[in-house]
Parts: sequence; structure tokens; C-alpha cells
Amino acid sequence: GGRRSGSMNKIIPGVSPSMMCADALNLGADAVKLTEAGVQYFHYDIMDGDFVPNFMLGPDVIKAVRKVSAVPADIHLMVKNPERHLHLFDLKPGDMVSVHQESTIHLQRTLAAIRAAGAQAAVALNPATPLCMIEDVLPDLDMVVVMTVNPGFAGQKLVPATLGKITRLRRMLDENGYDNVRIEVDGNVSFENAVKMRAAGADLFVAGTSAVFREGGIEANMKKLLECIR
Ligand code: DX5
Ligand code: ZN
Repeated sequence: GGRRSGSMNKIIPGVSPSMMCADALNLGADAVKLTEAGVQYFHYDIMDGDFVPNFMLGPDVIKAVRKVSAVPADIHLMVKNPERHLHLFDLKPGDMVSVHQESTIHLQRTLAAIRAAGAQAAVALNPATPLCMIEDVLPDLDMVVVMTVNPGFAGQKLVPATLGKITRLRRMLDENGYDNVRIEVDGNVSFENAVKMRAAGADLFVAGTSAVFREGGIEANMKKLLECIR
């Protein structure tokens, strides 16, 4: 309720479904359903078993899904030294690549490399990582990903302190003239949490097992989630 700040009026809120939570045996069919349901991106969690204690997805999955949908890729690199691996992804205009602030010594160079490759650049922050860690790369960013769970696994519970962090981030961006930089939230985006996350200032929602890939089916769940974030 109430008047939202400038940025909240300009950016169209949307959903980026977590493809690691889709039906691996029917990924193409799920991708088509999600496209028809109006998702803004497909969220691909890429994990190296080192930055996070899990392995997940890869460039070939992204390539395969591109055969059935033109929806752009929202590639979440949960890998050490992501700059070493960018060349493996056949990036297209409209794609978003997020790297973790905690995963590289050379964050500004890496963000610039993502833009040089033709994609939009984003930085992801683990729950414990303070906002001040990105205050000197705001010009290099198209989006900030606030991890609302500790990365690596689906089915986890929201870290409560991350809600306030979203609000502080939106304020930090708007006060510095970056009201066009998006805020994505990733982790335990349930219908109930999505409402709180939206009110806090998020505009792109990674939907996994908490709201979309659960009983009720993709179509109905997407409709419900879109109502929560409008
Ligand atoms: C967490 C993953 C997300 C998400 C999964 O590392 O990046 O895919 O948490 O969705 P939920 O949290 O709803 O199961
Ligand atoms: Zn993710």
C-alpha cells in the first residue's frame, strides 16, 4: 500500500523461475509452460561444488532450453573465479549474468567483462555480505541479487534479516541515482514471502519449490505469484 518510491514505479516486476527446480525429465515442456505464463527470465543456478557445497546445471542446459523459448537467461554463477568461465556461456543480448561479490577478487573487472560479452551484469550477495561491499561498483551494475537463503540448495527457509537488507539496498540505489538498477531476490520466494519482498523493494523473483514448482501446477502457481508481486 501507499506511494512507492520512484524506482518502484518504473521497473515492471517479474518472475525468473529457478530451472534447477523444474522437472528435469520434462524441462522443455516446463520451459514452454513458463514462457506462456509470462516469465521475464529463466534462472539458471550454476554451481561448482566449491563456492557452494553442491553441483548444478551448466551451459548445455541453457543451450537446450533456447531451442524451445526466446525467454532470456538469468545466469546465477555460484562458482569461484567466475571470470574464468564466462566464455563457456553463449551469451545473448537480454541475458543477465550474476556473479557473487564473495567469489572474485576482481569484481569490477568481472562485471565489465560480462557487459563486454553483450549481457547485463549483476552482483549477488550472500545473506552475511553487507551492502557496503558493492558501493563502488554501482555504475557497473544492471541488477543486484539479494540471496534470501544461503546459496546452494532449494527448499531452504528465508533468512529474516534479508528483508530489511532489500529495503536498505533499494534506498542506497535510489539515493545514488541508480533507480533503474533491479533487485532480484533468490531463495524461499513463497507467496507470503513474495508480498513482503515486493513491499521491501524487490522487483525480480526467483521462483523455485516455494511457489511455482509445487502442487497446483505451473500455470495456476504463476498466476498466483504474479498477483503477489504486482
Ligand atoms: C538457491 C537457489 C534457488 C532457490 C530455489 O541457491 O538459487 O534456486 O533457492 O527455490 P526455493 O528456495 O523456493 O526452493
Ligand atoms: Zn539462484
